[in-house]
Amino acid sequence: MPLRAAIRTIPDYPKQGILFRDITTLLGDARAFRKAVDDLVQPFAGAKIEKIAGIEARGFILGGAMAHQLSAGFIPIRKKGKLPHKTVSIAYELEYGTDEMEMHVDAVQPGERVVLVDDLIATGGTATGAIRLLKKLGAEVVAACFVIDLPDLGGARKIEALGVPVRALVAFE
Ligand code: PRP
Ligand code: ADE
Repeated sequence: MPLRAAIRTIPDYPKQGILFRDITTLLGDARAFRKAVDDLVQPFAGAKIEKIAGIEARGFILGGAMAHQLSAGFIPIRKKGKLPHKTVSIAYELEYGTDEMEMHVDAVQPGERVVLVDDLIATGGTATGAIRLLKKLGAEVVAACFVIDLPDLGGARKIEALGVPVRALVAFE
């Protein structure tokens, strides 16, 4: 089954007019989950990736599997107030208003090669915030990858404007 068919669409969630792209069906399908992780890591085989940075919450599921497959470490990028040690934080734009995300200050060393992952890119506010945070600590952000891109919302272009290549497995117009 192609990956696209393993993603469920829920109309009008979390509000009227939104087509919510739900990856829980993909994650629950052993073959689809394996294929998604294999496809996400494929460009980085032999690329000496030191860490995968995953964005809370669904980026943790994908990123943990990718880190294992690439023998890389894993960095959780979390919503404000969840990490126990000293953090660096950044405000980022949501559809309405702003929020803050955080990373531990010692989660990455200057010059480390990091790949960012999340389940989906929409406006790009979340992922651009995460990239700025990683760069603040001196990481080399090698790429940002996603299972789903919503190209009409222009997020991938914003990330590429930061000099970070984007890869997504499926696009929903
Ligand atoms: C979703 C998705 C991305 C973000 C993308 O997360 O998992 O992290 O939206 O949107 P953007 O490109 O417009 O910033 P959500 O904010 O729903 O948080 P959650 O993972 O905690 O459910
Ligand atoms: N995050 C932002 N837009 C989304 C959508 N359409 N489906 C799932 N997650 C989202």
